[in-house]
Amino acid sequence: MDKISLTKKEPIPIWFMRQAGRYLPEYRKIRKEKRNFLELCFTPDLATEISLQPIKRFNLDFIILFCDILVVPYCLGQNVEFREKIGPILNPISSLKDLNYKNTIKCLEKLNPVFETIENITKKKRDKQLIGFCGGPFTVLNYMIEGGTSEDHRKIKNFVKNQKKRALALIELITEISCEYLKKQIDKGVDFIQIFESWAGLLDGEDFNEYIVKPNKRISNEIRKYSKKTKIIHFPRGSNENLITFVNEVICDVISLDQNYPKEIIKIAQKKKMTIQGNLNPSILVQGGFQLEEKTKQILEEFKHNRHIFNLSHGVLPNTPITNIEQTINIVRNYETTK
Ligand code: CP3
Repeated sequence: MDKISLTKKEPIPIWFMRQAGRYLPEYRKIRKEKRNFLELCFTPDLATEISLQPIKRFNLDFIILFCDILVVPYCLGQNVEFREKIGPILNPISSLKDLNYKNTIKCLEKLNPVFETIENITKKKRDKQLIGFCGGPFTVLNYMIEGGTSEDHRKIKNFVKNQKKRALALIELITEISCEYLKKQIDKGVDFIQIFESWAGLLDGEDFNEYIVKPNKRISNEIRKYSKKTKIIHFPRGSNENLITFVNEVICDVISLDQNYPKEIIKIAQKKKMTIQGNLNPSILVQGGFQLEEKTKQILEEFKHNRHIFNLSHGVLPNTPITNIEQTINIVRNYETTK
């Protein structure tokens, strides 16, 4: 954790979730030429270039691999497509039997181009830390069952309630393949891994324990056993009060916070020496101006007694002005901690 532990006057590290994407003209240019998004993820030269675009432009402290969490269902033989202005479209499934794969190790070979991208980045940029990632098992399951983005998440909520056995069997499979996927990313050179459990907030009570805590705990334990030096970032978005249980149960070197985190986390993180990542609202980043400046400074103050990585509470929105990103980076880089 040396590079990101904070000492007096050391700038706070900064990166943005979804920092490679449509708000960048250099990304849009490549995207226009390569209309198939998955193909883009599976073209190592282009995926390497896109991963490095935000670093070249802003000199951010972390590179995140350019790929998507939905390559896991793709690996398992589900049809995954990305349509412009709509987002991902999957042929919805309802049980393991609807998938088409031999075994989890074998089907990961479909992701060899992603591993090649990691090797490329590792060769090119040793001075920056590289973040690999996967989706949290429940978040991946959400897309597999819903068949894409959803307003009300009715299908996944019903599935978890009425088809528990099938749901848990799928969660187990996704957890297993995610562990293997992350281990291969580590073999190829990632320094950090982030698990995007973006839909953790859909569940509560025993369901939160079963579908969010347990699978994420298994991933953390397996990764820590596999590699002592890889740092683990968890992002169980929308967990609210359940976040306390989450950080008490799951190994988190870094916890990525959204807007509505319980304030006790600040103290718990100090005690556990857990780094806090976050948590600027992406809509404020779009608005910019005085409000962006105030909010950024407020976040820096809020976490000044913690190890802190500055980031958003969710991904960069496509209509984000580049100047607002620059403004935020300047404020963070010029802020001196008074610890
Ligand atoms: O952060 C990065 O810069 C690395 C790349 C990355 C992408 N997706 C590229 C992408 C990462 C880390 C993700 C994670 C991801 N993907 C999540 C978890 C984080 C979150 O936002 O909650 C989820 C839920 C997905 C699934 C997904 N991919 C959706 C719902 C969509 C459509 C909505 C949208 O934002 O476009 C995508 C598409 C996607 N993934 C794009 C990018 C750059 C846009 C595709 C395009 O160029 O058309």
